[in-house]
Formats: sequence, C-alpha cells, structure tokens
Amino acid sequence: MKIRIILLFTLCAGLACAQENAVYRDMDLPVEQYEPHVRGDMTLSKTYPYWKDRNKLDWRLAGNPEENWKLNWKFMDPPFNNTVHGGHFALDRGESLYKSLNRDGRFAACLGATSGRLKGLRTRYPMYRKDLRRVAGLEAVIEHCASAQGEVLQHGSYDNSAVSLYLASLSQGMPMRIDVSKGPMREAFERGRQLFHTKAGRLNFACSSCHTRNVGQLVRGSHITTPYGDVAHYPVYRTQYRLQSLHLRMMECNLDAGVQPLMPGSQSYTDLEVFLSALSNGYTVSVPAERN
Ligand code: HEC
Repeated sequence: MKIRIILLFTLCAGLACAQENAVYRDMDLPVEQYEPHVRGDMTLSKTYPYWKDRNKLDWRLAGNPEENWKLNWKFMDPPFNNTVHGGHFALDRGESLYKSLNRDGRFAACLGATSGRLKGLRTRYPMYRKDLRRVAGLEAVIEHCASAQGEVLQHGSYDNSAVSLYLASLSQGMPMRIDVSKGPMREAFERGRQLFHTKAGRLNFACSSCHTRNVGQLVRGSHITTPYGDVAHYPVYRTQYRLQSLHLRMMECNLDAGVQPLMPGSQSYTDLEVFLSALSNGYTVSVPAERN
C-alpha cells in the first residue's frame, strides 16, 4: 500500500513537472532548418551577403560606420591597428602554458594531435571523444588533458581560454569543418538546434529570438548578429571582459536575457557549441579577434 502511494505520488509529480515544462519551455517557432554549412541561411538575415565571402569583404561595404554591424567584424580587418589588443597577450600566455604542459608530448597527443602536429585541430572541434564517451569542445578537452597531468585548467578560466586561443592560432586561416552528419555529433547538433529555439527566463526569449528574429537590433550597445561564422573567431578578446570563451559568451547572453546561466562545459552549452560550430563550417579560423 505504502509503495503504491509513493509510486502514485512520484508519477503525479513527474506528470505535473512535465506539464509545467511543456508550458514553460515554449519554442520560438518555426525552428529554422539551419544547414550545417554556410549555405541556406539567406532567409534568416539580410546581413549575410555583406560578410559571407572573406576575400570580398571590405569594411566599407557596410556603407557607413553606423552600419558596421552588418559585417559583425567577421573576418574584417578593422580600419585601425588590430595588433594592439589584449588578445595578443593572451595568445603569448597560451603558448607558454601549452609548452610547459607539453614538455613530453603527452598533452598534444591527448588533445588529438596527428603525428605531433596540431595544425587544423581547432577546425575539428567539437568532436566525439571515445575516452570521454561524449561530445566535447576544445576547451573541455584542454581541461581534461591538463587534469590527466595533475594540472588545473578550468574551462572558462583565462588560462584555459588562452591555451584554446593558442591552439586556434595554429589553424589560422583554415576553414572550420566539424562533421555533424551522423552519430552522437548529429544528435548534439539536433539538440543544440532545439535549444537555440527554446524560450526561457524572465523575458521568455530563445537564442533565436535575438539572433534570428532581431538581427540588427541594438541590445546593450551591440547590434545582434546572425549565428553564422561566430565560432571561427572564438575565444574572443572582449574589451570589458578580457578573454571570453564561447561558453562564457553564452553565459553572458543568458544573463542578459534573464536566464539562469549554466556551467561552462555543461551538456546544453556543448550541444549549442556543436550547433554553432556547424554553422561556422567553411568559415576560416581567425584569432585573436576583439569585440567591445
Ligand atoms: C537578448 C538578446 C540575446 C539573446 C536572447 C541571446 N543573445 Fe547572443 N548576443 C546578443 C548580443 C547583443 C550579442 C553581441 C552582438 C553580436 O555579436 O551579435 C550576442 C553575441 C553572441 C555571440 C557572439 C557573436 C560574435 O560574433 O562574437 C554568440 C556566439 C551568441 N551571442 C550566442 C547566443 C546563444 C547560444 C544564445 C542562447 C543561449 C544567445 N546568444 C542568446 C544578444 C542575445
């Protein structure tokens, strides 16, 4: 009898919870059929033609400085000396950390270097890692490989992002090319796509409420841009927040929209990272980038 009551109770609680979720977890519809490559997004934003082709990109395309957001600085050489910002110091820090961690070559091997070479590694992350039995982004793997050597390099920390930035710089100019065609990566992409459209928080906004429906609008002093090509220039140097990993950026967007931020490396952020990385396929790695 007792057991039955408990069972009934758990069931109801479960149902109530599911119902609550169904109401609360509103979707921002329609869920766009994003393609995991750079084609197919023309309907999402009128900005794409301005920055889709790096070779043709010229900041003056925007017409005037007010319209600069159309380029979103994706691949854009700004009209000032871009070699003077903290991202370059972070790169140096990342290099020296990497070298001390990789004295015996174990760190590079753990990261997935092919015959000791790290060139192109950035363009293949996130990937499914057999040893971790899950899909993981580069920063998560940096943390994992450091801890295998007894070092703490927490995902989201300055040092972790600095190493990530250094590794990205070794793939400078190479196109992102993650494979989301099948298996756990496909599943992560699909979950990420759903999450991108799932409303939450005080404003009941989904990522797409801003990054798809309101591209070009001014929010907190920045113009909202499309989700295409972003990952290729992460981690980014933020003039007010210093070095920012992609997961920290998502925490900031969550905070801005009144949503409880998650921990860097959480499953949901990783799924979103896979989704966003697939939308950066074909975009060349471009670091260190700077944002205000
Ligand atoms: C309230 C509106 C809003 C919401 C909701 C929002 N963002 Fe943002 N996001 C911004 C603004 C504003 C920026 C800075 C301008 C830009 O680069 O688009 C930004 C920037 C970004 C960037 C960096 C773009 C770049 O080129 O550097 C990423 C990546 C991003 N958001 C992802 C997300 C994800 C994932 C979600 C959902 C978890 C989300 N955003 C939800 C407003 C929002």
